[in-house]
Parts: sequence; structure tokens; C-alpha cells
Amino acid sequence: MKGMILRVLVLTLALVLLCITLTDTFCGKASMNAEMIRLPEPVFDGGTSFERAAFERRSVRSFSDKPMDLFQLSQILWAAQGISDTLKNFRTIPSAGAIYPLELYVFSGNVEGLEPGIYKYLPEENALFTFISEDKRDELSFSCHNQRFIREAPVVLLVTGVESRTRSRYGSRAERYVFMEAGHLGQNVSLQAVTLGLSSVMIGAFDDLKVAGIMDFDNAEIPLYVIPLGYRK
Ligand SMILES: Cc1cc2nc3c(=O)[nH]c(=O)nc-3n(C[C@H](O)[C@H](O)[C@H](O)COP(=O)(O)O)c2cc1C
Repeated sequence: MKGMILRVLVLTLALVLLCITLTDTFCGKASMNAEMIRLPEPVFDGGTSFERAAFERRSVRSFSDKPMDLFQLSQILWAAQGISDTLKNFRTIPSAGAIYPLELYVFSGNVEGLEPGIYKYLPEENALFTFISEDKRDELSFSCHNQRFIREAPVVLLVTGVESRTRSRYGSRAERYVFMEAGHLGQNVSLQAVTLGLSSVMIGAFDDLKVAGIMDFDNAEIPLYVIPLGYRK
């Protein structure tokens, strides 16, 4: 009798473990795919020279209600963090030790083919992952000391840094490296925007805790830059 009970228990345990494994294997990946939005492929040959883009770049704080399209968004995300060497997975901006401590989020409000919400950019997949299915530009604008033009931009990027990634190799120099990398990203975004007929402005004045609160970040991920993008009004 005891042996029988033991066998039933072992069988039940094995079934439970099998169910957990199958759920992880199939349901986990399936829901990840369901929430992934593939982006148009970036182009590597626009019509504007570097010199022209650098000359024309200007901070703009007034955006029209003309929507951006998914190609423009994809191109900007590629310029910010896209893969430019598929063998080594190196990206369009330099990174100390090729560690890539930055993360990039899109606050979408007025993009053709993309629901309003917050998305995370996945460089290796050239895709977006749905983070929050709600337009949060108002809250972000408020968190940036109520700089009102932020809520009018069709897209607002949020750049964050996970310093611990870089610290594991570079110790106390990590903080400055992460800040430097955010600068590289910002410059690429602002110049790429010009080539697409768009404008941007770099926002450094915000309440860290409020921005982190929108995203439900723990202390490991720090907001570094907010970048509204769109057509100049
Ligand atoms: C690190 C940094 C933080 C900034 N923060 C803000 C900001 O919070 N709000 C804003 O309107 N502009 C901000 N700016 C934009 C500057 O005001 C702008 O670059 C400067 O006035 C020069 O103008 P230009 O960008 O058109 O050349 C920031 C720029 C940098 C580099």
C-alpha cells in the first residue's frame, strides 16, 4: 500500500514538473512573440550628408500634430542602439568594452501603425516589446517638471542606464562611461532625426523617481535622457 502511494506521489510530481516545463517552453515564448512588434528594416544610405545634418540640428520645443511613421521610428532606434555588426553584435554607438549598459524605451502617442503606449527596443530583433499599453506622455511630461511640449511630441524616447553591467569590468569609472554612452546615443538620434525631416530636443531636467515610477524600475536602472521627437510646428 505504502509503495503504491509513493508511486502515485512520484507520478504526480513528474506530471507537475512536465506541465511547468511545457508552459515555460511554449506559453512563455508564445506570449513574448505575441507582444513583439517587428520594425521596418533600417536604411544605410539616406539623402542628407553628415555636415548638413550637423548644421541643421536645433533643439525644438514645439511639435505639430503630424504623425510619425514606423519607418522613421525604426531608423531612429537603429541610429540609437541598432546592430551595425551582426557578427559581433556591435551597435551604432560606441560602448566601453562593448558591454552596452543602455536601454531604450519608446513613449508612442502618434505613430502610424503603432498603438499609443510604452515599448522597449530590442536591438537584436529589430523589434519593439510592449511594456505598457497606455499613452504615458502626459505623465512623462509632468515628471520632467511639466515641460509641456513633451506631451505634444508624437514620440518620446527614454534612455536608461544599468550601471552595474559596466561596473563589473570598469569599477568606479563605470558611471562616467554610462553617461558618455548616453551622449553618443543622443547625438546619433538628433542627427538621424534631421535626416528624416524631424526635430528633437534633449531633456535632462526631470525627477528621477517620478520617471522611474512610471516604468516601475528598481534601483538598478536609472533614467538618463528623455528625447521628444516629431515634426516642428
Ligand atoms: C544634457 C542636456 C540636458 C538638457 N536638458 C534640457 C531640458 O531639460 N529642457 C530643454 O528644453 N532643453 C534641454 N536641453 C537642450 C539645451 O537647452 C540646448 O541644447 C541648448 O539650448 C542649445 O541649443 P541647440 O540644441 O538648439 O543647439 C538639454 C541639453 C543637454 C545637452
